[in-house]
Amino acid sequence: MSAPPRYRSVLYVPASNARAMEKAAGLAADALILDLEDAVAPEAKALAREQAAAVLSSGVFGDKRVIVRVNGFGAGGEEEWLANDLALLAPLAPAGFLFPKISTAEEAIRAQSALTTHFVEDDVALWLMIETPLAIMNLPAIAATKGEDAPALTGFVVGTNDLAKEMRITPTPSRTAMLTALSMSVMAARAHDLVVIDGVFGGISDPAGFEGEALQGKGLGFDGKSLIHPSQIEPANRIFSPSEAELAEARAIIAAFHLPQNAGKGVLSVNGKMAERLHYEIALKVVALAGG
Ligand code: COA
Ligand code: MG
Repeated sequence: MSAPPRYRSVLYVPASNARAMEKAAGLAADALILDLEDAVAPEAKALAREQAAAVLSSGVFGDKRVIVRVNGFGAGGEEEWLANDLALLAPLAPAGFLFPKISTAEEAIRAQSALTTHFVEDDVALWLMIETPLAIMNLPAIAATKGEDAPALTGFVVGTNDLAKEMRITPTPSRTAMLTALSMSVMAARAHDLVVIDGVFGGISDPAGFEGEALQGKGLGFDGKSLIHPSQIEPANRIFSPSEAELAEARAIIAAFHLPQNAGKGVLSVNGKMAERLHYEIALKVVALAGG
């Protein structure tokens, strides 16, 4: 089984910050989100767009997976921002485009159409921010817009800061008020085989807080975490990789099912635990995730 792309660490990089983009090229994040939206002030939109174009065409990112977060479908200036973002950056063929504040299936289809206009044959990934209460209520329909044709809906990035703002909650370390939305996002994504990335942790100088939240995200089923600072990359890569113990267990299950005397068997006992065929399939995924 070839290793699937990993999204353990997905770093936001404001495109208005040329230094940060340059630095990001050398960082160990699995993917980058060049941000033209929330991290960029209205008066810096044009500069950010130009800088993103310059860095994408420079080749400095090599084969790093770079996703561009465009401005959203909004009133007034924002529509123009989005049109300009796509016109300038689509020809540079980043790995994907991330559309913010998608709340309905209609908006998801609109995002896909916006890409179709620019990409006729190229395979570009469509990513959606899930960050409004309405999006949470519409998750099954939004996820179901995934079709067979490119540009293919590839994944969700949960925007927990916008969601907290609109839910009118004050975030807490346990994220209790957010858990339903987080789980529903994972569930909808899994129902359609989409990637799903957890929201950011804002405490740059709180590594223990970051690790706690990342572990919670892994436990909830996320593929990885969106990040705001280079210091969060190493813990995210570690936490969202299979642990040594998980890997050893997976290898033992695979080995047991491959034994000639177990051919044709549906259930085995491996190291004192029941292992069914479904556990064998999980084990194959764990080993692939660990990079072989
Ligand atoms: N991507 C790439 N590099 C980054 C970075 C990021 N997101 N955040 C910080 N860095 C770099 C800095 O440029 C600096 O590099 P240098 O010292 O080699 O020049 C180094 O990491 C240390 O940065 P630090 O001084 O600790 O942080 P800061 O005060 O410069 O920046 C933030 C703090 C929060 C403004 C910055 O991390 C940031 O902009 N994060 C992303 C925010 C964002 O995109 N939000 C939208 C989605 S929620
Ligand atoms: Mg947002």
